Amino acid sequence: MIAIENLTVSFGGVTALNAVTVTLDQPVCGIIGPNGAGKTTFLNVISGFVVPQTGSIRANDTNLLSMKPHERARWGLRRSFQKEQVVNELTVEDNIRVVLDPLNLSGRERRDVLDTALDFVGLRGMRHALAEGLNAFERRMTEIARCIAGRPRVILLDEPGAGFSQGEVEKLRQIISDIHGFNGAMVLLIDHDVDLIQAVCQETIVLDFGSLIAVGETASVLTDPRVRAVYLGMEDA
Ligand SMILES: Nc1ncnc2c1ncn2[C@@H]1O[C@H](COP(=O)(O)OP(=O)(O)O)[C@@H](O)[C@H]1O
Ligand SMILES: [Mg+2]
Repeated sequence: MIAIENLTVSFGGVTALNAVTVTLDQPVCGIIGPNGAGKTTFLNVISGFVVPQTGSIRANDTNLLSMKPHERARWGLRRSFQKEQVVNELTVEDNIRVVLDPLNLSGRERRDVLDTALDFVGLRGMRHALAEGLNAFERRMTEIARCIAGRPRVILLDEPGAGFSQGEVEKLRQIISDIHGFNGAMVLLIDHDVDLIQAVCQETIVLDFGSLIAVGETASVLTDPRVRAVYLGMEDA
């Protein structure tokens, strides 16, 4: 469960998040809204990259805002970035291993965690390949493996399916759907692909100009006239 209260973020004159209050408690929660709506900022505040002017974030009974980014990572917060952050000079395996360093695992546990994460995204056969040779899909899968490695409690995915083919989106859909059953982590997913959101998110929030304009069960949010007006209107036209 993530409980957010009165969250406000401004950058100079731009209000990226405007007094957002929402409680999320489903396995996979969607975050949608037009470009510039504040979606990435929302994840940046949760992960600690951006400090809000006001507000609180509790995850279960933990006050996330009192923790530094690395403490949040150790607590079990993981994220992937809108612009993926895979290190070309490292192997697939070493790209995943970086999140395990602070976790105090034994050598054996570390290997088990790595194997499981690689299997989960289907990259075991490529574990020793240098990341510079990976295609866009494999790079995203490396990032997702990094998110599920260790004991994540909350996983933040920022447009993981951008630029994917239909078949790749299909695989991504399966992987995201499987995360919660696999390790109990809650997933927050930003994506513009409404079909993907519909397929994997039990609940969805909609941001527009930094304000929360809808929250609830995904199917009802997507048919909300206000949401259609700001977000889907162009598709209807
Ligand atoms: N670091 C920053 N400095 C200044 N303005 C920012 C910064 N990050 C985001 N913004 C602004 O905040 C608003 C929300 O941005 P963002 O959260 O990236 O939106 P989204 O992910 O929904 O497209 C935009 O107007 C954006 O230009
Ligand atoms: Mg964004």
